[in-house]
Amino acid sequence: MPRMPQWLETAVFYEIYPQSFQDTDGDGVGDLQGIIRRLDYVKDLGCTALWLNPCFASPFLDAGYDVSDYLQIAPRYGTNGDAKRLFEEAHRRGLRVLLDLVPGHTSWEHPWFKASMQAEKNEYTDRYIWTDCIWEEPAGCASLRGISPRDGSCAVNFFTHQPALNYGFLHPEKPWQQPMDGPGPLATREAMRDVMRFWLDLGCDGFRVDMAGSLVKGDPEGKGTVALWRDFRAFLDREYPDAALVSEWGEPDKSLQGGFHMDFLLPWGPTHYNDLFRCASPFFAGKGDASVFVEKYWASYEKTEKKGLICIPSGNHDMDRLARFIQGDSLKIAFAFLLSMPGAPFIYYGDEIGMRYVEGLVSVEGGYGRTGSRSPMQWDESENAGFSSAPKEKLYIPQDPSPDRPTAAAQCGDPASLRSEIRRQIAVRKTHPALQSRGEIRFVSDGAPGTPLSYERTAEGERVLVALNPADEARFCPLTGNVRKTLYQLGEAPAAEGGRLRLAPRSAAWLLLGESQ
Ligand code: GLC
Repeated sequence: MPRMPQWLETAVFYEIYPQSFQDTDGDGVGDLQGIIRRLDYVKDLGCTALWLNPCFASPFLDAGYDVSDYLQIAPRYGTNGDAKRLFEEAHRRGLRVLLDLVPGHTSWEHPWFKASMQAEKNEYTDRYIWTDCIWEEPAGCASLRGISPRDGSCAVNFFTHQPALNYGFLHPEKPWQQPMDGPGPLATREAMRDVMRFWLDLGCDGFRVDMAGSLVKGDPEGKGTVALWRDFRAFLDREYPDAALVSEWGEPDKSLQGGFHMDFLLPWGPTHYNDLFRCASPFFAGKGDASVFVEKYWASYEKTEKKGLICIPSGNHDMDRLARFIQGDSLKIAFAFLLSMPGAPFIYYGDEIGMRYVEGLVSVEGGYGRTGSRSPMQWDESENAGFSSAPKEKLYIPQDPSPDRPTAAAQCGDPASLRSEIRRQIAVRKTHPALQSRGEIRFVSDGAPGTPLSYERTAEGERVLVALNPADEARFCPLTGNVRKTLYQLGEAPAAEGGRLRLAPRSAAWLLLGESQ
């Protein structure tokens, strides 16, 4: 594992979807100046770092995950100068900034792709994965065909308009498949290093890496992709040793080997993350079962030799809003979990005020069902909830129309609000190493039906017992030490009864323990 930048150990992230955070020029789309204007809000919440979704030039058929110029801020968000200012203003406040690196594909409008479509061989012929003949398709993925003078089909990585960049094949079998160290793949690698250099030189602190596990093809076990990322990490260690890397990979045993500092827990695949937050009966809504999640998390944790650098997000631009499934005190208990787990927590903008999933929105920029989670931030009671001065119908993504929609202003002024609760939780996390990214975890009670979710976190000789009961009835879990101090409590206080801890209905507690009993 690479050396972790110190700031990452204590980081609490805030994810900003730039389109929808704060518009300052009245065009109905958020912008970088808007983010700068709201940095104090993020800092006041207690967050220490930002992850910005892609803000580069793009035709926006996938919210900017379809980059047409890696080195240019999209004009609708501002200029590269604004980005520089954003980094400086963030740093002045002690906040770090991760940009979103999309190394797996570009937009089909990227000049590299346009050049690679040409029949004549040129510098970009091998930048993407093309078969030799239009009648042959790359196996295992969709392709773009019949759009170019070049005779061939081009592999796509995600949507049809996102051709896959060529990092090579682990075991090439066809003449058009290049090895990872072929000239085309090596040139792609160098181009992506240049992209990283450019933004790190301008002042960003690292990257959240999109679809990080998908780069090398014909590589089901990820061996080639791990090797590729080790090489990228070696480059960063030489030139930018403090640059942080967080992966959207979902297999921490692989991504940490590849040199990532942390990996996201994904809502799809085998994680059972959705059992907790997004299903018919989520655990945090009080009636579900967390035990399969715990089992899967533990397996993953053990595979990373208990490094536990698995980031659990409250949500993100791809998931339904948390508040679609969980409300009221249950949301506060869900955050008492998110903010006491190993790895850096990520709060999706607006989740801290319980912003709702806006039902029935028409897709914008390839959002489809995701659009309801991407509506503009609700700042206050003014026009467009303080998001933009544009006429309401000009907002790029419509807002939650409910008269009782939550706002940041109202919640900042209310000590009983969700935001105030999260602010308290973050403050406690920040002062206790056991609760931070690298503190170890041991589950005490796995949240199977009839039981609470409870775990011990330990670091630097400190032990904290976290006990969470979102159910409507009292629950019991083993008490694993003498309670020295209650660090945080929501609802009625827990009570020691024999060797057990009684947790009141809808309550949460973080307890500092003394010696084992
Ligand atoms: C990631 C992004 C998602 C995007 C996709 C393709 O999963 O989070 O929003 O559509 O990659 O880049």
